[in-house]
Amino acid sequence: MSCRNLKVKGKSNESVKPFLRWAGGKTRSTPFLVDLLPSNFPSTDVYYEPFLGAGSLFFYVEPQKAVLSDNNKDLIGCYRAIQKNPDLISECLNQHLAETCEEYYYRMRQEYNHTKPSISKAALFIYLNKTCFNGLWRVNKKGEFNVPYGFKEPPCLPSKEDLRKTSLALSNANLLHKDYREAVKDAKKGDFVYFDPPYPPLNGTSYFTHYTKERFTKEDHVELALLAKELTKIGCHVLISNADILFIRSLYEGAFNICELEVTRWIRADGKRYKVGELAITNYDVKNE
Ligand SMILES: C[S@@+](CC[C@H](N)C(=O)[O-])C[C@H]1O[C@@H](n2cnc3c(N)ncnc32)[C@H](O)[C@@H]1O
Repeated sequence: MSCRNLKVKGKSNESVKPFLRWAGGKTRSTPFLVDLLPSNFPSTDVYYEPFLGAGSLFFYVEPQKAVLSDNNKDLIGCYRAIQKNPDLISECLNQHLAETCEEYYYRMRQEYNHTKPSISKAALFIYLNKTCFNGLWRVNKKGEFNVPYGFKEPPCLPSKEDLRKTSLALSNANLLHKDYREAVKDAKKGDFVYFDPPYPPLNGTSYFTHYTKERFTKEDHVELALLAKELTKIGCHVLISNADILFIRSLYEGAFNICELEVTRWIRADGKRYKVGELAITNYDVKNE
């Protein structure tokens, strides 16, 4: 099924903008994804988003009950800090903004890698994300953030009002630092699960972006498809975003609806750039009205 003619719902001015830039973030696809939500959404029960990243779909739809998770510990630490202390984070961000420059960025990057989870670490996470090259999150084998400076001055940091709105949107959310398999263990009939995993390697096994020390491999994609089938048996509504490549199609064809979105993105692999289409895969019928 192709979704190229779907009517895109406008985003309400009230919706909260994601506070991070995130590789593979779904800001551009979200208006299309919203039209592919189950027909009874938002009366579906709990909203699960186990590959949270910048949470584009979550902030767009702001469901009442949500379980949001990611296996990036610092990312979840940052969400939790905003949920509880938006004003304190805003104060720290103002200090970073006052001093920002290339030398300051590298000093803060080093400080970040030696700081224990705290409000300052959460603010540093946002500062680095907005100031580094392309908003990438990449760590070395020791788990240290190592993305170079992005030459963007001044960085566009969220305001106090943005952070307060974000905190409000997150007020009922359960934020978990977990692998996606663990994170959906309690999902039950009537719940909605949105999976947005890292794209598979297009060539060999190399990725330009390493979200965490552990890589998301081809085998992980096979396992994710099996989990989606398990959740289908339980009666959950499942929506999956992924790259439009034969390998991914082969995992879902037959049992799921496969919809091509009118969105493409550039992926880097083996030092080259590839243009790839995007799929939205559902285990329920999509009404294209
Ligand atoms: C494509 S990004 C999600 C982007 C997000 N939908 C957005 O709009 O910004 C994939 C996310 O999956 C997380 N991730 C990778 N492997 C994971 C795993 N095994 N379990 C849970 N999260 C994982 C990464 O840390 C990353 O944040």
